[in-house]
Formats: sequence, structure tokens, C-alpha cells
Amino acid sequence: MSTDHPKTPIMEQELRTLEHEASQDLERIDTANGLEEFRIRFLGRKGRFSAIMEQLKSVPKEDKPRLGQLANTVKKQVEQAFSDKKDQLASGGGPTAAQATAVDLTLPGRRPERGKLHPITQIMTEVCAIFESMGFSVAEGPDVEQDRYNFEALNIPAHHPARDMHDTFYISDSILLRTHTSPMQARIMEQQDPPLRVIAPGKVYRCDSDITHTPMFHQVEGFLVDTNVSFADLKGVLSVFTQKIFGADLPLRFRPSFFPFTEPSAEVDIACVICNGKGCRVCKKTGWLEILGAGMIDPEVFKQVGYDPEKYSGFAFGLGIERIAMLKYGIDDIRLYYENDLRFLSQF
Ligand code: PHE
Repeated sequence: MSTDHPKTPIMEQELRTLEHEASQDLERIDTANGLEEFRIRFLGRKGRFSAIMEQLKSVPKEDKPRLGQLANTVKKQVEQAFSDKKDQLASGGGPTAAQATAVDLTLPGRRPERGKLHPITQIMTEVCAIFESMGFSVAEGPDVEQDRYNFEALNIPAHHPARDMHDTFYISDSILLRTHTSPMQARIMEQQDPPLRVIAPGKVYRCDSDITHTPMFHQVEGFLVDTNVSFADLKGVLSVFTQKIFGADLPLRFRPSFFPFTEPSAEVDIACVICNGKGCRVCKKTGWLEILGAGMIDPEVFKQVGYDPEKYSGFAFGLGIERIAMLKYGIDDIRLYYENDLRFLSQF
């Protein structure tokens, strides 16, 4: 309890005012000179604090301990604020050590970064979804394949010149890494009777490497077998597919070609998505880009899997996923997909 001696409340009031003004003054100070003036004015021998302390002599004895304690607290606070400011000015005006280590509990938490699907996986999923919407079912087969499925059953017997194109990685005389997804045609047809509508996505391997080839790449095989299937059905399915994947009404071109397992065979081009068919570096001035191989399934393949070629007909196609992804995203070096550079991958 304070007495009603007039000095007591005055001194108490003055201490609180000093504390308040000191902190306000300090905030505005931004030079060492300003800070020194502050020190003399508040904490110097003839400063405001000393002046207030002078009054302690004339307050009643019973108020002295309380006022002494208050004066101490105020002095410590002003001195602390003064030395914080000094540190702050010395460190070029940045936050004080106390401020820098303070934790702001009101800040929102840091979100963990989410991973993304590889661009090739994204395109594979998209391609499969388009064919699934046309009634195709998805099947997967082994990367390590028998010569029989990769070649023999597809009308490519031993020593056939078509084997040269495949740059095959052999594991033994009869086991190899599949060079295309076409072995899935033979595998599925061997197990199931027509009608069939299947796509088979997966990895394939060829001993080849440059800016448009990697030793491992991805294909999606598609095939349909039924009675009275015609080349027009193949054209229809592929037109719907290219429109959906490139999002535009792109002209298609069928060029005669040769595959031992299809007859007739074609390579299918789309109008260059980069220059719209006018001719550019990517399409080598032709205005066209090759995206897949296709054809009507050869009767010889039907015989190999035990289908009656007189009764059934069908078409098949195989498309390169990297190629489609390169065209869709305007990428001109296929190796970027496999260097695991996050600056590249995080763009998709
Ligand atoms: N398997 C062929 C290739 O990899 C593509 C293809 C598939 C051609 C189906 C015709 C029919 O080049």
C-alpha cells in the first residue's frame, strides 16, 4: 500500500512516463550519434533517470522498497532496449538477435512439396484413357520376352531381314528384351477368342541412342479382331485418337509401309503440330510428322495363334509415347525425359 505522501505517486508516474518515452524515442533512432544522445538524456549521470532517483530520498520510508524496485525494473528495461538498438545498428539495421530467433506462432505451416507423375506416365495414362473410352481393355505383358512372341508368331522367322531393324538386346538365343509391344498381340490372341479390343502399354528396348532414340522407350499397342473389320475402322479409331490427344481437328495421312505382321501396312502421319503443316525444322519442311505404324493383321499371324483367317479380320497399331509427348510439349531432345532433372520434370 502506498502512503498519501505527495512524492510517491508523482515519482511512480514519472517512472512510467520515462519508460514509455524512452521506448518511443528509441524506435525513431537510426544513427549511432542519435543513440549516444539518447543514452545521455535518459541514462546519463545528469539524465532523466538520475533526476527521478533524486526524489527517492524524500519519499516516506515505507514506500522506498516498492519504488526502488520499480525504478530498477524500469532502468533495466531501458538499458536492455538501448543495448538491443545498439546491436541492431551495428549489424546494419537488421533484426536483433532476440528478434531473429523469435518464433511467430501465427504463421501458417510449411506445406510439404508434392511429387508429380513423370510426363511419360502422364501421356501413357491419357492415351490409355482415350482408347478405354472407345471400349478397349488394357493388358500388360513381360519386358523380358521369348523370341517366339517378339518375332516368330509375328511372321518374322529366324534370319528374316526385318529382324535387322530391331537392334535387339538378346539375353539368350531364345530370350530377349522385347523390341516392341506387338508380342502382346500374339499373347492375347493365343488366350482369348474374338471379338477382341485390347491396348497394351509398356516399355520396349532397342540398342540405339541419339537425340531421338533412347535404348528404352514406351509404346502402346492396340488391336481389334472381329468379323468384317476393315481399314476404314482403323482410320476411324485413329482419327478419334489423334483429335483427342492433340485437342484439334488435325489432318491424318496414311503412307504405305511394310510390317511382316500386317498387310496392308501403313505409317501414319499427322499434320505438324508445330507449324500447322506449313513446313518447319521439326517436320523437316514436309509439314507432316510420323506418329505410328499400323495395318490389317496378317492372316499368317491368325494362323500362328489358331484363328481362322477366313472368318476373322482385324487391325493393329503401335504408337511411340515419347514421340507423342515430344510433339505435345514441343520438346526436341528425347534424352531429357530420362536425366531426372527436376527443373525439367517439374514443368509437367
Ligand atoms: N511394332 C511396330 C514397331 O514397333 C509398330 C506396329 C504395331 C506396326 C502394330 C503395325 C502394327 O515399329
